[in-house]
Amino acid sequence: MDEENLIIPKHVGIIVDGNGRWATRKGLSRSMGHKAGFENLKKICDYAFTKGIEVLSLYVFSTENFKRSEEEVSFIMDLFAKNFRKDAIKFNKKNIKIVFSGRREQLRKDVIDTIDYVTELTKNNTGNIINFCFNYGGQTEIVDATKKIIDDVNKGIINKDDINVETFSKYLYQDLPQLDFLIRTSGEYRVSNFMLWQLSYAEMYFPLVCFPDFSKKDFDEAILKYNKRDRRFGGINYEGKNN
Ligand code: IPE
Ligand code: IPE
Ligand code: MG
Repeated sequence: MDEENLIIPKHVGIIVDGNGRWATRKGLSRSMGHKAGFENLKKICDYAFTKGIEVLSLYVFSTENFKRSEEEVSFIMDLFAKNFRKDAIKFNKKNIKIVFSGRREQLRKDVIDTIDYVTELTKNNTGNIINFCFNYGGQTEIVDATKKIIDDVNKGIINKDDINVETFSKYLYQDLPQLDFLIRTSGEYRVSNFMLWQLSYAEMYFPLVCFPDFSKKDFDEAILKYNKRDRRFGGINYEGKNN
C-alpha cells in the first residue's frame, strides 16, 4: 500500500509490555529492561507523531503493578521522577501536550511533583497529545468517573437523565477521542485493565516483539495491519475489505 494512501488512526494506545522478559533473556536485571523500554518509548512517540497520529495513550504502570517487588517499583518510579522533566522539556518544544491518567494516591511525592510540573509546563500546547497512563486501571477509572457523576448529580450540576455515553466520557480521567488502535507488545493477548471504556471499538494488534526492541519498522508494520482491518462499528460496510 502506498504510504500516502494509508489511513492513520487518530488515537493509538500502546501497552508497553515485555521489558522484564527482554532484560532477563539478555542476562540483565528487570530494571534494565524498564530503562531500555523507557528510552525506546520516547523514540516511538516522536516517530508516531511524524506519521500523523494525533493522540498516544501509553500504559506504563498499572494499579496492579504495585504487586511487584519494592526494588522494581522503586526503580520505575525513580526512572520517571528523575528523568521525565527533562524529556517533557523536549516534548514541550514540539508543542506536545502531556496529560496523565491514573490515581495519584499511592504515588510518591517526587512522582506527583513531576506529574504536576509536566502537566503545567505543557498544558497550553496545541499539538499532539501524550496521555501517560501511570498508576492506571481501567476499572478504577470507571469507578472514579461514577463517583464524580454522583457528586455532580447530588450538587444539582447535572441531572440523572443527562447521563449518557457522551457525558460519561467527559468524567473519565481525560476527555480524549475513542481509541482507534491498540498495540500490545510481547505476545500477550489481553488488555490487562487498559482503557476498558475507550477500547469499545478499537482494533487490536499483538506483535511478539518485546517493547525495548519495538522499532520504527515494527510501528510501520502495525499501521499496515491497521489498514487491513474493516471497521464496521456494528454496521455493514458493503465496500469493505471482507465483502
Ligand atoms: C512492562 O513490562 C512494563 C510494566 C508493566 C511496568 P513488564 O515489566 O511487564 O515486562 P514482562 O511482561 O514481565 O516481560
Ligand atoms: C500491563 O502489563 C501493564 C503495563 C504494561 C503497564 P502487565 O505485565 O502488568 O500485565 P499482565 O500481568 O501480564 O497481565
Ligand atoms: Mg508484563
